[in-house]
Amino acid sequence: MTLSTKHHRNIYCGEPRSADIGRELSVCGWVQRRRDLGQLIFIDLRDRTGVLQLAFDDNTSRDIFDLAMTLRSEFVIHACGTLRERSSKNSDLPTGEVELEVTSLSLLAKSETPPFEIVEDTDVNDTLRLKYRYLDLRRPDMQRYLALRHRAVKIARDFFDENGFYEIETPMLTKSTPEGARDYLVPSRVHEGKFYALPQSPQQYKQLLMLAGFDRYMQIVRCFRDEDLRADRQPEFTQIDLEMSFVDIEDVLEINERFLRRLFKDTVGVDVNLPIERLNYKDAMNRFGSDKPDLRFGLELCDISDIVKDCSFRVFSEPASSGGSVRMISVPGGGTMPRKQIDALVEFVKTYGAKGLAWSKLGEAYPNGDESFSSSYAKFLTEEENAAILERADAKPNGLILIVADTDDDVVFAALGALRIECAKRMNLIPENEFKFVWITEFPLFEYSAEEDRFVAKHHPFTAPMGEDIELLETDKKNCRAKAYDIVLNGSELGGGSIRINTPELQQNMFRALGFTDEDATERFGHLIEAFKYGAPPHGGIAYGLDRIVMHLAGLSSIRDVIAFPKVQNASEPMTGCPDIVDDKQLQELGIAIS
Ligand code: AMO
Ligand code: AMP
Repeated sequence: MTLSTKHHRNIYCGEPRSADIGRELSVCGWVQRRRDLGQLIFIDLRDRTGVLQLAFDDNTSRDIFDLAMTLRSEFVIHACGTLRERSSKNSDLPTGEVELEVTSLSLLAKSETPPFEIVEDTDVNDTLRLKYRYLDLRRPDMQRYLALRHRAVKIARDFFDENGFYEIETPMLTKSTPEGARDYLVPSRVHEGKFYALPQSPQQYKQLLMLAGFDRYMQIVRCFRDEDLRADRQPEFTQIDLEMSFVDIEDVLEINERFLRRLFKDTVGVDVNLPIERLNYKDAMNRFGSDKPDLRFGLELCDISDIVKDCSFRVFSEPASSGGSVRMISVPGGGTMPRKQIDALVEFVKTYGAKGLAWSKLGEAYPNGDESFSSSYAKFLTEEENAAILERADAKPNGLILIVADTDDDVVFAALGALRIECAKRMNLIPENEFKFVWITEFPLFEYSAEEDRFVAKHHPFTAPMGEDIELLETDKKNCRAKAYDIVLNGSELGGGSIRINTPELQQNMFRALGFTDEDATERFGHLIEAFKYGAPPHGGIAYGLDRIVMHLAGLSSIRDVIAFPKVQNASEPMTGCPDIVDDKQLQELGIAIS
């Protein structure tokens, strides 16, 4: 039933204030709830900006009052009336001082009872939320997150435009160049048996744009990677992707620091102090066991290999003297953890490949009395060795020392890096509302892949080695460092990039170092090798994970909540049900048979 033909809204529900009292307002939205108090009906009307109370009373005409009686949650209506002061004010609501005395009302659409209530902070399970994502997105928190995402994208576009970047689109249907994650493939109908790949990033195209002379490029771009999902990983995600010509590391970092400062200030009012701290990869690993360290708390790793390398406890001495290491973290107050929790930590490190976790628990009375010290390993060491460990740990009453030994340093780092965070969580050492940025620099150019039994590019094969390490490309791959950098926030990798190789000779050397024959390299990257013959400017860039940035801005712990229509754990989408089977006819056209 329509009692008004004017559907023109002149204000959003969340906007009216006391200063607007007396104004004729016209609002549209969804019914949040209806309260009937006999001769009085209140309706909370919601749109993307908030909620406004509509009032129907003795003065309301009978037909409007009767229509109001029929309204239920999620009905869509249009209401006009006069704004008046509310008699019982609600200070929790921005519009809580006022209400609309309705003089005309139209029902625009009815709604069935939704499968869950549209409210902030829902505890509805994720699968249901995603099946009815359009209802989930009506919730005020989701509306805020996506508005924030819009702001972030807008600021990125404006900032880079002001700094001379062109936004240029690159193809979604591209050539598969296996390296990095698994590709999503798209079969070609015209070229039966051939496939496009969806881009894992526009890396090669943005480099070619530099060759083409565009000087500065940016793109808000979708990327596709067929990898296991995590809280901060989706199979399709969005990058803020940049590339610049005639630059070296400092130039790229400088402009990006200014970008991050602007972004965090103009979205959430946070001041990012410049310059952003820098840590080289080696120090990051040694101190935090991670190349994306969370610097909001201490609990730094400490190497004790030198103390135990000749001890008689083989669990320690063997790794310490055979190229591995023995390292510890010292957790102030951790000695108050009950034994059961420490046992849980032992199991925790095993999930990171550690063979065990040795511990010492210091009591309240430490260092006095036998009761004040218990340990899983002390009995295997000499008094001097034990004393040296306690001293290096700066042991205090109620302290906890946790040690991992392994012949593979990477296992020690992975286990203690994760344990450091786990202990900080348990001990409540992580301050909220703090934003600790750090650049990680001097990444290794290569990493060894046991699976492929060869060195692979840690970043990608176009990353330039550091000038002083060029010779190590052939002689010492393990220690060859790259002109690569990551930006890390609170233990999360926000973005990464590098200065690229810009001469065909060095690029060929790099491909050889990666174990590609010249034919392999030409087969996979021929277009790039060819292009580099025609004058490539020195260039470099970076790509941010936009989803991760917005997740941090919103104070969330999963990127799913800042993506309108995300995938679930098994890479499917509960709302549309994709991926799905397709018609035989479609498969036939593509020359594909499902085995
Ligand atoms: P990289 O692979 O490090 O670099 O990706 C850049 C940033 O993208 C984000 N990211 C993801 N976010 C969500 N889900 C994923 N599956 C996912 N994978 C990556 C991260 C990461 O830091 N072409 C290079 C950049 C360059 O060298 O300029 C690249 O793609 O935040
Ligand atoms: P065991 O000799 O097996 O009883 O081990 C003695 C202590 O050393 C136990 O607390 C084990 O958990 C610990 N331990 C065993 N392997 C390791 C390891 N690789 N790193 C650190 N501690 C270990």
